[in-house]
This record gives sequence, C-alpha cells and structure tokens, in this order.
Amino acid sequence: MRTVTVGVLGSGTVGQNVLQLIERRRAIFDDLGVRVEVAGVLVRDVNKPRDLPAGIRVTDNCDFLQECGVVIEAMGGVERPLELLRPYLKSGRPVITANKALLAEKWDELRPYALGGDLYYEASVMAGTPVIGPMSTVLRASTFTRLQAVLNGTCNFVLTQMEGGKDYAAALAEAQALGYAEDPPTLDVGGFDTAHKLAVLARFCADGNFPYEQIEVRGIEDVTLADIEQARQRGERIKLVAELRREGEGWRATVAPRSLPADHPLCAAGGGRNAMVYEGEECGSLIFAGGGAGGMVTASAMVGDLLDFLLGFPGHVPLH
Ligand code: NAP
Ligand code: HSE
Repeated sequence: MRTVTVGVLGSGTVGQNVLQLIERRRAIFDDLGVRVEVAGVLVRDVNKPRDLPAGIRVTDNCDFLQECGVVIEAMGGVERPLELLRPYLKSGRPVITANKALLAEKWDELRPYALGGDLYYEASVMAGTPVIGPMSTVLRASTFTRLQAVLNGTCNFVLTQMEGGKDYAAALAEAQALGYAEDPPTLDVGGFDTAHKLAVLARFCADGNFPYEQIEVRGIEDVTLADIEQARQRGERIKLVAELRREGEGWRATVAPRSLPADHPLCAAGGGRNAMVYEGEECGSLIFAGGGAGGMVTASAMVGDLLDFLLGFPGHVPLH
C-alpha cells in the first residue's frame, strides 16, 4: 500500500463535500492500493462549525502544504490561491481545482503546468457534468465549429424562479442559501463567472491561449419579470448564454441573456443545472446537461480528478 498525502485549501460548500466524498470512497482507494491521508485543511476561521469526517486537521496555517503529494484547491479568489499554489506547482506537484476565475485570469502563469499535465480542473466548468474531459481528449479529433452553453447555476436558478413569479432579489438569496453563488454573487449575475468558464473551454477547442479579456460580457441584472413573461407568451425562455464561434479568421466569444425557443436543448436545464451544445464537423452536434453548481456535484468531479491522478492519468491538457 502506498500513501498519498492530500492538502485541501478551503472547507466551504465544495471543500466539505470533497472531504466527505474522499471518506466515502476509501474502498476504491484501497482497491488501488493507495492510502489517502489528508494532511490539513486551510480555512480563514478555524472556529466555524463544519461538517467534516472525524480526525481532519483544520487550520489557518498553510505549512502542511510542504508535505503534500497533491493539493485540492476549493477556496476561490484569484491572488491568494495563486500565491499558495505557485511554489507548490513550481516543485512539480499536481493541483486539482474548481477555480475557474483563477484559471481564466491567471492563464499565462498556469498554462505551462496545464500543458505538463499537472492541473486537473474538471469541476471548474459545469461542476459534476463532465465536459472538460471529453473536450481535452476525444473531441480534439473533430474540427470545432461552435458551442453554446448555459454555464452558471445561480443565473439559471434565478431565471427559473422568476418564471414562477419570484422576484430577482429573493431568487438570488435562495441561490446563495443553496451554496450555488460565488462570493460576491456579482460574479454570477454580472456574467463574469460564465465568461471565466467560457475562457476555460475556449482553450480546448479554439485557441490554447484564448484571453479571458476577449469575451464580451452582459449579465442578467436587467432582466425583468415582464421580459420573462413576454418571452413565455412567445413560447420562449430567457437564459444566460455563453457562445463561442468562428468569425473571420478568429473567434467571437460572448455572454448575454437570450430568449430561446422553449424546446431548445439549452432550455432543458432548469434550476441550478447547466447545458452545452457542442458542434464539430466530424462529431456533429453533441448535448451535455447536468448539475452545474452545488457542493456534492462539484466534489464528485474533484474526487474523480483525484482518482485520475492516483491512476496515473495526466490532468487536463489544453491546445498546444
Ligand atoms: P465557500 O463556501 O465560500 O468556501 C470557501 C472556503 O475557502 C472557506 O472554507 C473559506 O474559509 C476558505 N477560504 C477562502 N479564502 C481563504 C483564505 N484567504 N485563506 C484561507 N481560507 C480561505 O466557496 P465554495 O462555494 O466552496 O467555492 C470554492 C471554489 O469552488 C470557488 O473557486 C468556486 O468558484 C468553485 N466552485 C464552486 C461551486 C459551487 O457550487 N459552490 C461549483 C463549482 C466550483 P472559512 O470557511 O474559514 O471562511
Ligand atoms: N457560482 C457558480 C454557479 C458555481 O452558480 O454556476 C458553479 O461553478
């Protein structure tokens, strides 16, 4: 039996579920001949009550990172996680992350590690619904033409609740209570979280260096109950849609609310769910749909990444 020491950054909605799922999957690790040991869990407030397996060391001191063979980052933010992960990645050790803001905004620094297979980030887009896996492997054989997607569970939840007559502020508060929203939720409703995710996806199908700043972004803050009712009368629904398509010699990437026919595949996603229509010349039109936000659905992808690492598979390698 070999021992792999894991460090976890963050123990909020996602981090707690990751730790619980690692505990529930002990039998699989045993079958692989691996003893997974959690060296420590970094938080801000060590006195906050948490729902964690017994014996987990919760601390506000990151020294335990030095002894870890793999780090799982579920703390959010951009500058602080990069500060913590930089020396760790430099030492050649792998990182599993759900942090699309970090990936989108610090790609210049992170891309070499992703190309080297040291970054695992399935959970960063569509949470537990696997899209990065297929896009970084089998779909690369097909010529990509266009994708359209609903990538933010909070916005989708808010818009779905508004269809039932709930007002915007109450629906957003409910999404926050469910653990869907970012801190601050402006990242969600302003469209920026969707743009972060679109940047991550673009690097697998359009350009390995696709800049986050190139994405045109509009959020859902101005969508009213009246807009939603008018769409309903036309047989349509309003969704926050991310789109990436060819334009001339380059690519156009947008995030904006759109009114879609109610039977459009992207409308199949209600509540906190996500959906994506991926089009390639040879693979045709593919539809991915499933849970896009929430603690356990996100943890399922992160622990899946941990299993990939333990089995010796590389992380998610973008276009060269
Ligand atoms: P969260 O509930 O706010 O948890 C964040 C955790 O990180 C908390 O435990 C917090 O400590 C800790 N933390 C934050 N800043 C810290 C710092 N400077 N030093 C030490 N600890 C710090 O957030 P979350 O919803 O779990 O999301 C975590 C990450 O997953 C984010 O990148 C998010 O975008 C991503 N993600 C979330 C979801 C989702 O549905 N929630 C889905 C996919 C991806 P305290 O507990 O002491 O405050
Ligand atoms: N805040 C994000 C969302 C979490 O609502 O989709 C999942 O990435």
